[in-house]
Amino acid sequence: MHTPKDSRTVMTDLVLPSETNPLNNLFGGELLARMDRAASIAARRHSRRIVVTASVNHVAFNRSVPVGSVVTVEAAVSRAFKTSMEIFIDVWIEDRFSGEKTKANEAIYTFVAVDDTGKPTEVPALIPETDLEVERFEAALRRKQLSLVLAGKLKPKDATELKAIFIDK
Ligand SMILES: CC(C)(COP(=O)(O)OP(=O)(O)OC[C@H]1O[C@@H](n2cnc3c(N)ncnc32)[C@H](O)[C@@H]1OP(=O)(O)O)[C@@H](O)C(=O)NCCC(=O)NCCS
Repeated sequence: MHTPKDSRTVMTDLVLPSETNPLNNLFGGELLARMDRAASIAARRHSRRIVVTASVNHVAFNRSVPVGSVVTVEAAVSRAFKTSMEIFIDVWIEDRFSGEKTKANEAIYTFVAVDDTGKPTEVPALIPETDLEVERFEAALRRKQLSLVLAGKLKPKDATELKAIFIDK
């Protein structure tokens, strides 16, 4: 049995001046790269395969991250499909004085497990445990369908679970 806990990957690092924008806040592309790294380790821990980033489904840069901040990127598989995995990434910054962590950003990436030739290969199922994990697991199919529709890989009429959220009950 594989749970999100088994894939959880936590990476903590400083924000250096060379990684900032002209406002001395963390450059968005640097944060995307940090999240990609943590997410790829989480996907690898779940699948024990080579994994590649298939899509970045959602990124919210809710708070800027000043130079000198201690940033923690926490990634875990939120759902496994046949060959793809959704990875949820939470980003925290640590208060310099109290050490208290505040959520700064979040993102959702899709990774695909591949064999040595780059061909997609099956991954184990994931069983969510906590309420938050169940919530993320249940919404993941809608997000997969949205991502595939936007990529032109799924017809909107076939995105059944996604369409259902727009229908008044
Ligand atoms: C990701 C990749 C392996 C998918 O290959 P593909 O030919 O589309 O393969 P498939 O159609 O069989 O899709 C494989 C899985 O990816 C999922 N997928 C493909 N595109 C997706 C997208 N845009 N959003 C969400 N899921 C996607 C499919 O739904 C399928 O999932 P499932 O097997 O769990 O149902 C291939 O496009 C690739 O190698 N891309 C380059 C990856 C890379 O180099 N990333 C780093 C960028 S620098």
